Amino acid sequence: MEKQKIIIGVTGGIAAYKIPELVRIFIKAGHDVRVAMTAHATRFIAPLTLETLSKNRVITDMFEENPDPLAHISWGQESDLVIIAPATANFIAKAAHGIADDFLSTMVVATTAPMLICPAMNSKMYANPITQENIKKLNNKGYLIMKPGEGELACNAEGPGRLPDPIDIAAQAFQMLQTKDLKGLKIMVTAGPTIEPIDPVRYITNRSSGKMGYAIAHKAAMRGADVTLISGPTNLKPPSGITLISINTAEEMRNAVFAHHTDMDMIIKAAAVADYRPALSADQKIKKREEDISIKLVKNPDILSELGSKKSKPGQILVGFAAETENILTNAKEKLVRKNLDMIVVNDVKAKDAGFDVDTNRVTFIFRDGTIHELPLLTKDEVADELLDRVREIRGKDNELHC
Ligand code: CTP
Repeated sequence: MEKQKIIIGVTGGIAAYKIPELVRIFIKAGHDVRVAMTAHATRFIAPLTLETLSKNRVITDMFEENPDPLAHISWGQESDLVIIAPATANFIAKAAHGIADDFLSTMVVATTAPMLICPAMNSKMYANPITQENIKKLNNKGYLIMKPGEGELACNAEGPGRLPDPIDIAAQAFQMLQTKDLKGLKIMVTAGPTIEPIDPVRYITNRSSGKMGYAIAHKAAMRGADVTLISGPTNLKPPSGITLISINTAEEMRNAVFAHHTDMDMIIKAAAVADYRPALSADQKIKKREEDISIKLVKNPDILSELGSKKSKPGQILVGFAAETENILTNAKEKLVRKNLDMIVVNDVKAKDAGFDVDTNRVTFIFRDGTIHELPLLTKDEVADELLDRVREIRGKDNELHC
């Protein structure tokens, strides 16, 4: 992500002690951070702490000597994101009513940047209908309001009102700052294993955790795409802002894919589809009467090949995955051609840090023109971003060709 200008407004609550950590996260990520504090906030934490960490002057008073006398206007207009954390009930009330009686509240009235408000207060103050009404007003204005955490509060009360952890505030901020370069695109992602029943209590499956597909769906949604995730059973929390279709078997995945594929701009098939299923799935539990039994397996539909053979929308991009254990590149190239793909993502599933159920992956991208791009060991989120960058490039090239 490019360097972004982030304003953090700190108001007078005990949770202000968490803000140095928030500033550090943004500085470490290479962003420009400016802090404004209300007079009451300076009673909880010294401006010098935030000035040292942000490497920028902290503004606490509208009328203090300042090289930029119009900072109360320019800050909020030149920044990429304004965060108010902690946001007290008083500050929320003022912002909801357009009151501009100090530097921070004036800057908020004048800002044109996206706003992230992180309320933190006693749970009774938070539950007060007036506070809730004010929060709703800010929400209606397009501000994003983070839900406070629950638990023991500094005032000994229990309930909602804790400032979310700095890491969670930062994650929300990064999501808001992310460039929406996939806006307007419909992307289907398949993820996880399929399970093929033998009888009502037993099934055949594989070791896929779904992490790679979920990371792609999450990143694509963050980058503005309209994402449909078709997932086999996993233990993962679905990413927010996507449409999730849950399936069990390969046959169900096929039906879900073909119910939605026609208007997709990109289809990314990260799922580990079971190649075979039991020819018969018993209605009742199979009892252990025999010494040995055989289960006849029949081939499942190859969903990706079927998609490749009837690309439904001009310029539709089809990405496959290849889980290989030997002759990795040769097998993957053959799959790319046989399944008529634009790109294939290859991984050696025997590698310790790059196989099933880990958070990292070491992959190689192979493209239709034979280009090979080998990536280092990355987190699955990073692989997802790299993959989405590449499909965007393919789409760009295709669009040029169509012009
Ligand atoms: N795939 C699919 N339907 C299947 C099997 C695989 O859509 N029945 C897709 C996977 O989602 C993946 C790609 O095909 O994107 C390659 O899957 P992989 O298991 O590596 O290859 P297979 O085609 O199954 O070939 P093999 O098992 O012989 O390596």
